[in-house]
Amino acid sequence: MLRPDYPIQTDRLTLRPFRADDLDALSDIQSRPDVARFLYWEPRDREQVRPVLDDRIRRSTIDNAGQTIVLAVVWRETGALIGDVNLYWISELHRSGEIGFVFHPDYHGRGFATEAADVMLRLGFEGLGLHRIIGRLDGRNRASARVLEKLGMRREAHFVENEYIKGEWTDEVVYAILDREWRSRHG
Ligand SMILES: CC(C)(COP(=O)(O)OP(=O)(O)OC[C@H]1O[C@@H](n2cnc3c(N)ncnc32)[C@H](O)[C@@H]1OP(=O)(O)O)[C@@H](O)C(=O)NCCC(=O)NCCS
Repeated sequence: MLRPDYPIQTDRLTLRPFRADDLDALSDIQSRPDVARFLYWEPRDREQVRPVLDDRIRRSTIDNAGQTIVLAVVWRETGALIGDVNLYWISELHRSGEIGFVFHPDYHGRGFATEAADVMLRLGFEGLGLHRIIGRLDGRNRASARVLEKLGMRREAHFVENEYIKGEWTDEVVYAILDREWRSRHG
């Protein structure tokens, strides 16, 4: 079970549950083709984002494997909602999880995704007691791969054309980190 104390603060960011008034900011992110490029979904208009947001508002705690936490990431300097991060508890038996992240392109390249995703690793290892956390991505998504590398994750698999997404066969790459590896990086 995971019920973090919100908000969670990092050096520059605040991570908090989504709220109803996040619709404009989330729409700004999810409507962009460059954001959706390597994701499973197509760009969404405001009305398509509304049920996504409604769903996310409820996803700030985890009771059982199979559930996901999704948090809004706010840059404290401006108060802008710049992206989101998530943690999926895959299996209780294997103590495994998965992280993910999506940020607005106006804020790319400043280390924000890495800073926020590291909190997801901490919640997974310290909060849920996970043994192993993975990140999965389209093999062409170099920025995502770089984030996972900066988090200390290991490139473990490159599946060739194992998924058919948006009308084409795509490669899937998997990164992973173990609890002891994460703890040794964080003293
Ligand atoms: C992936 C994503 C979250 C990264 O966010 P970000 O805040 O820019 O991430 P960071 O700044 O922490 O790190 C990005 C790293 O990727 C690098 N990078 C960015 N674009 C790159 C590219 N095309 N090729 C190689 N490296 C690239 C950056 O230089 C940086 O590395 P560095 O710190 O060594 O210079 C962001 O690009 C995004 O939201 N993309 C769209 C959604 C998405 O694909 N999410 C991931 C799904 S698996």
